[in-house]
Amino acid sequence: MSSPVISVEGVGKRFDSGTVALADASLRVAHGEFVALLGPSGCGKSTLLRIIAGLERPSAGRFEVAARPPHRAVCRRSGFMFQGPTLMPWATVADNVWLPLRLAGQSRARARDAIQAQLRSVGLAGFEGAFPRELSGGMKMRVSIARALVAQPSVLLMDEPFAALDEMTRIRLNEDLLAWAQASHLTILFVTHSVFEAVTLAQRIVVMAANPGRISQTLDNPPRRPARRGLARFGPTSRAAARRGGPLSQALRRTAEALSPARATR
Ligand SMILES: Nc1ncnc2c1ncn2[C@@H]1O[C@H](COP(=O)(O)OP(=O)(O)OP(=O)(O)O)[C@@H](O)[C@H]1O
Ligand SMILES: [Mg+2]
Repeated sequence: MSSPVISVEGVGKRFDSGTVALADASLRVAHGEFVALLGPSGCGKSTLLRIIAGLERPSAGRFEVAARPPHRAVCRRSGFMFQGPTLMPWATVADNVWLPLRLAGQSRARARDAIQAQLRSVGLAGFEGAFPRELSGGMKMRVSIARALVAQPSVLLMDEPFAALDEMTRIRLNEDLLAWAQASHLTILFVTHSVFEAVTLAQRIVVMAANPGRISQTLDNPPRRPARRGLARFGPTSRAAARRGGPLSQALRRTAEALSPARATR
């Protein structure tokens, strides 16, 4: 892999409580790659993501986020998405999306066009003046995504962003996320509990195990069609196909095996 965007080498984290949340984790993510971190609760997924985001300090190892695609001279920042939408309840949708631009010194007037374009691209045109309490859970996550994307990050770090949503909303957002990722040439590291979500989204699935938290294996999950993984691949037809066999089924089975407790303790 030539000059990875995210590079993690031998990273460990021992909390003051003595808990070893992460041991000797190494990972490289190339520009434009969509990588899932998949594993059971407590295996250190959030800890690893938070270290990469600079929100937590590692107690061992090194990491680097280049946040700069090879063809761009300007360094763009990385964006982080938490499990919930974490919107400001007192601010309108537009003002919530404005936040990263505001922090970068852009006035509301100057940011208006970018905010509107971003809201349009996540399917929320016309909701600029609405408040979070007036939105559904899926719409709130769309605002949260718009806020993460409005500053045009080249790297997006996502910690189970859709875990609280119903399955249909989640599938729809998964599909849209793939489209946005492709359109913006995003590099994405995506934490999930869901084997299905990991297989739907990621080109590579990094499987983690607990006690201590560690990377147990990495699975390649190449798309069937080069340009697009979409809902069509994962609807009832695909589930049936998964039961019958084929690459998706094999990837699911391998990942499920890797996640089984017997395997995880080896
Ligand atoms: N601030 C902290 N202080 C002490 N221990 C912590 C802290 N944060 C996490 N841990 C511990 O580190 C381990 C890994 O936690 P982490 O949140 O990274 O897991 P996770 O894989 O994201 O789990 P989940 O899927 O439930 O979100 C757990 O045992 C947790 O209790
Ligand atoms: Mg977590």
